[in-house]
Amino acid sequence: MPDLSVTLGRLILRNPVLVASGTFGYAKEMTHFVDFAKLGGVIPKTVTQASRAGNTPPRTVETASGMLNAIGLDNDGLEHFLSHHLPYLRTLPTAVIGNIAGKTEDEFVAMATRVAELGQGLAGLELNLSCPNVSGGLDFATDPEVTRRIIRKCRDACPNIPLIAKLTPNVTDITLIARAAADAGADAVSAVNTFVGMAVDWRRRKAILGNVTGGLSGPAIKPLALRAVWRIAKLKAIPVIGVGGIATLDDAMDFIVAGANAIQVGTANFYDPTASVRIAEALPEALRSLGAASLAEVVGTLNA
Ligand SMILES: Cc1cc2nc3c(=O)[nH]c(=O)nc-3n(C[C@H](O)[C@H](O)[C@H](O)COP(=O)(O)O)c2cc1C
Repeated sequence: MPDLSVTLGRLILRNPVLVASGTFGYAKEMTHFVDFAKLGGVIPKTVTQASRAGNTPPRTVETASGMLNAIGLDNDGLEHFLSHHLPYLRTLPTAVIGNIAGKTEDEFVAMATRVAELGQGLAGLELNLSCPNVSGGLDFATDPEVTRRIIRKCRDACPNIPLIAKLTPNVTDITLIARAAADAGADAVSAVNTFVGMAVDWRRRKAILGNVTGGLSGPAIKPLALRAVWRIAKLKAIPVIGVGGIATLDDAMDFIVAGANAIQVGTANFYDPTASVRIAEALPEALRSLGAASLAEVVGTLNA
């Protein structure tokens, strides 16, 4: 049996297959479909400091080979997560990586501090930097300096918790942001969150989403996400978790060979909640077919 274990800085996973935030609820919803013990880990929906009602519906729309969503981080807030969801998540036989988003830099730090105090049972913390900074308007991870500052402060607030920076692809050069995350002490980056897009109903002359614009995900974005991961991996500065359009073993292996140390399955969970487990089960055979005794031997071996 090939060695599937993954080391992402301080974080060690039994295998590289994770489920992406916002596409797997708080895991309880998936209990009847998913054998959690087969996964490298789960990442529950983003939580914010205060509860949020999210955006006006419609919040999702199907597009060619993908979907657009503008959920607007609908959630019950950090305290509710810690008291209601974490006790269940802690019982799962897999790594649980929390995911937080702040409205401001200070809010990120306050939330990370609270997780350090009360987040026992979390294997790591993913910082959703792909959300708007209310003071500046733009997403945090569109600016290397802001990215560096938030991660450094969160790093200081929780020195022992593995930190993953989740990056937005809506930038000119994602490698500048990944480099900043590495410099600031993140253990890994997740690349990528959704691509901003929109859908229109020309007959009604209206945007379909209540929020007008939304984030594109699913198979449509796989080639774009793959390129982002490949470029970040070439920096050799920080481990990369590939996410974007992964639904099958072949998708996962494409990302791994291109440089992903681990992968996340997102949109595929909505139409096939077993996709992640099937990928994890099929990985050993794929590695054997390449003559590899471990996953690590195959990561980033693309002959470009
Ligand atoms: C309906 C929906 C909700 C999402 N919510 C979150 C979220 O709360 N936090 C987050 O970091 N990413 C969120 N994402 C982004 C995914 O985690 C993932 O980065 C993105 O969808 C690309 O992967 P995919 O093509 O496999 O879905 C969401 C995606 C979808 C489709």
